[in-house]
Amino acid sequence: MDAGEVNGGRPRGKGIPGVPVAAGLWLAPLRGVTIRAFRETFAPEILSADFCGMVAPFIPANPGIRVGDRLLADLQPFGRHSPSLVPQVITRHPDAMRELLKGLKDRGFARVDLNAGCPFPMVVRRGRGSGLLRTPDMLDRLLEAGCDEMGAGCFSLKTRLGFERPDELLGLMPILNRYPLAAVTVHARTARQMYEGACDMRAFAAVCAASANPVIYNGDVRLDGVNGVGIPNGLKALKGVMVGRGFIRALGAMEGSTVRLHEYVARSQAELRGDRPVLGRMKELLSYWAESSPHWHSLWPAVKICRTVDELLSL
Ligand SMILES: Cc1cc2nc3c(=O)[nH]c(=O)nc-3n(C[C@H](O)[C@H](O)[C@H](O)COP(=O)(O)O)c2cc1C
Repeated sequence: MDAGEVNGGRPRGKGIPGVPVAAGLWLAPLRGVTIRAFRETFAPEILSADFCGMVAPFIPANPGIRVGDRLLADLQPFGRHSPSLVPQVITRHPDAMRELLKGLKDRGFARVDLNAGCPFPMVVRRGRGSGLLRTPDMLDRLLEAGCDEMGAGCFSLKTRLGFERPDELLGLMPILNRYPLAAVTVHARTARQMYEGACDMRAFAAVCAASANPVIYNGDVRLDGVNGVGIPNGLKALKGVMVGRGFIRALGAMEGSTVRLHEYVARSQAELRGDRPVLGRMKELLSYWAESSPHWHSLWPAVKICRTVDELLSL
């Protein structure tokens, strides 16, 4: 199967060499990375890649806590041609989630995603993110509340193959299949694996076969070939592919990355106070670029020890 089959045979993008395109190619949420300033700075590359949509990094929904304007401001699209932006919520509180969904609907968002994949211990300990894979009743209640509040086909789930084992999501499919979800995005790893180790294509194919909802594949997709990861042939429920780090890395390897970095700094300086948060943001991005570009790789040791933005920009 080539990229054309995954993407419905639409033509290829032109911006980043070899980017496979179109219907079905999603930009993954990466907290602290694929934020508004990033999406605005790299809008030309996002448009060239022809993403059909982007899921925004998660917003927590907790009882009694109003979501601040700053979090909501991060949900701005970058222009008329921006791919649709889907907000994502992380929670274990169905009522608090309903409140947040109402607010998002009022602001014009037609679809919202639920995070059931975040593997970080602090999140999991609170029963959120991939912790939901260990509390099927709570997952069930959240899916019920989400579909009820947003309507059929307007609520989606992003999750993993399991918490400890890659067959756990398969065991939860009878719950997921009761709801008319817009999509189930599956990062083909367990939470235990975090972001490393092999993606499990057999377990992913089994989930796909069992799903009544459209499935989006996620995990190690590279922009020089969607199927570089070896997605099996003939998965009927497979409706899309989501890419995160592969897209970020490709940006570092493109011509003009330095100019874009300077733009990203300027946007971030306008938004944040002081050098420290701006530097943190840049270092996070450059840690990916150091993996994909010899230029950024050679600068990385110097980048790591930069203490001011001016120092970084003078490298
Ligand atoms: C720094 C970082 C932040 C992330 N933030 C989120 C998030 O807010 N919501 C979410 O569902 N997944 C999040 N993820 C997971 C990614 O969306 C994606 O599932 C994962 O990176 C695997 O896809 P990739 O190999 O294409 O990057 C994050 C991953 C990383 C590395």
